[in-house]
Amino acid sequence: MPCLFRRDTKVSARKIRVLITQLTTERMDAIHTGTAPDDLATKIMTTADPETGETFEIEEMVDQVAIFFLAGHETSGSALAWALYLMACYPEWQEKVTDEAQVLTSDQFGLIFKLRISRDVFRGIIRLYPPVPMMVREASCPEQFRDREVKVGS
Ligand code: HEM
Repeated sequence: MPCLFRRDTKVSARKIRVLITQLTTERMDAIHTGTAPDDLATKIMTTADPETGETFEIEEMVDQVAIFFLAGHETSGSALAWALYLMACYPEWQEKVTDEAQVLTSDQFGLIFKLRISRDVFRGIIRLYPPVPMMVREASCPEQFRDREVKVGS
């Protein structure tokens, strides 16, 4: 497939990759010197494959971080942008969401599931303007989904 990205898009993508490589290399160094924080990145980089015993090479880790960057950034950015737009269009709902949020203080993030109006509003937003409207897959080997045969290439 031809890749019709604009030149400056490719330049930006390269910059992002250089930045991620720098961050990943710094973390790898911190792991080796025993100063790395015990967070998700460290866990991913130090957990060995149970079959091969290998951990990720720098390049593989850069791919993982790049996926998180893309998957976690564009999606939530798009959802939040539409949320703000729709809240501006429907101020009565903006009021309800604001009122509901007053019950939580900043250290009660774990109680976020109690915000039922906010949850419903957010679900409505991603239903109307889904950050990922659909995913397409092609079967690379014969497969069975429940009682259906999935052929190669379908
Ligand atoms: C509104 C926000 C989000 C939406 C709508 C969304 C949507 C999706 C969808 C539809 C998939 C499945 C893709 C598939 O079928 O293979 C997916 C996978 C994934 N998402 Fe999200 N996502 C969101 C937020 C995030 C955030 C915040 C992160 C990370 C910080 C993230 C990381 C990932 C990753 C790593 C995968 C791949 C999982 C795997 O196949 O191993 N997503 N997301």
